Amino acid sequence: MNVLVIGSGGREHAICRTFGKSSGVTRLFCANGNAGVAQVAECVPIKPDDILALADFATQNAIDLTFVGGETSLALGIVDEFESRGLRIIGPCKEAAQLEASKSFAKDFMARHGVPTAKFTTSHSPAFAILELESGDFGDENSPVVVKADGLAAGKGVVVAKNRAEAVAAINDMASLVGTAAAEKIVLEECMFGREVSLLMFADGEDIALMPPTRDHKRIGEGDTGPNTGGMGTITDASLLTTDELQTIIDTMIRPTLHGCVREGFRFRGILFLGIMMTAQGPKLLEYNVRFGDPETQAILVRLETDLVDICEAMLDGTLGSIDIKWKLGSSACVVLASEGYPSKPRTGDMISGLENVSNVEVFHSGTALSEPPAGAGGSTQPQFITAGGRVLGVTATGDDLATALSTAYSAASKISFDGMQYRRDIGK
Ligand code: AMP
Ligand code: GLY
Repeated sequence: MNVLVIGSGGREHAICRTFGKSSGVTRLFCANGNAGVAQVAECVPIKPDDILALADFATQNAIDLTFVGGETSLALGIVDEFESRGLRIIGPCKEAAQLEASKSFAKDFMARHGVPTAKFTTSHSPAFAILELESGDFGDENSPVVVKADGLAAGKGVVVAKNRAEAVAAINDMASLVGTAAAEKIVLEECMFGREVSLLMFADGEDIALMPPTRDHKRIGEGDTGPNTGGMGTITDASLLTTDELQTIIDTMIRPTLHGCVREGFRFRGILFLGIMMTAQGPKLLEYNVRFGDPETQAILVRLETDLVDICEAMLDGTLGSIDIKWKLGSSACVVLASEGYPSKPRTGDMISGLENVSNVEVFHSGTALSEPPAGAGGSTQPQFITAGGRVLGVTATGDDLATALSTAYSAASKISFDGMQYRRDIGK
């Protein structure tokens, strides 16, 4: 089987490594990959938003299975394009991808199908959003409120404002922060409090198979301080959700969501990702994502024991309910090593050292490149990795328990270095 993975981050490196372990895979391609991905897959220079070129590539190279990493291609309708050409692809169709691509669509969908979520309203201009705030529906001028751009904004479109003045500033700044298209509509939400947990699942349109629950640490600084990032580290651990909490989430969120998709005339096939807040009133849905998370995937896939190709076949054939997906017992942790200046102005081009010294971990590359060999190096064949993005590496370990997974990941992280390297020491705390 020839497999194509779409994307270029740590998530896609983890997906490629997982496909690389499958006996069913003959050739593995990644569009467009990175220097780490290039060690396990043939990288193809096509960007995720060029869905026609990706479909042409898949046809010309007899790709049997395509796996989409990120939301950009899904929101553009890559699945519809591939399926119209008879190509097999894992991901939701364009209509289902709106669950992530439009916050107002997602919130209206939750409301239509009774999925518990924060109270919200959608405004079609900044001025109307400010009027909504002043109406008092979201509390007084001292109440926290969450301001969200409707469209895709790579994590930059959400501001948890401490009070009305901050919310007004966020509304006024949103278009310059995320672009006018993503900020065409503004969603205001009641601010919820509680523990956050993410629950991802494989879905075949009818059945689902849950993955281990996971937690992401989104802020750059320890103790959850500083600006939001794409994610600085993740854990998987059974203690994140009790059996009762999991059952409540299945009953109040997952079932209504899957039924809702069917009732609205589309099916959800691919990876469904629920961002959940465990509030004093029970679990409430923060958001849907329609794909694997980054770096959730790194911590999840290191525990997957079943062949990913078999799971993909089951998703495509609608037989997910009849396969038994096995996970390594215990826990896992992924610690992200980021560049100086991340998230606002990441510096790139720093030489990475120590990768050869680590053991018992998988190091997934998020933003790396290979350096030009130094002049007069005399034909050294060792690749020299340099930083090429904000998040650079995801050091990922499993363990019989969370403490073991974390100490293994941190011990390896301490052996890797590059100028300006920053990482959080409190992942999983
Ligand atoms: P989202 O992309 O919608 O999940 O938002 C990103 C992050 O913002 C979430 O992981 C939460 O930490 C925070 N957030 C979003 N919506 C709310 C809310 N209604 N109340 C409190 N925090 C929120
Ligand atoms: N780590 C958060 C996300 O992938 O959306």
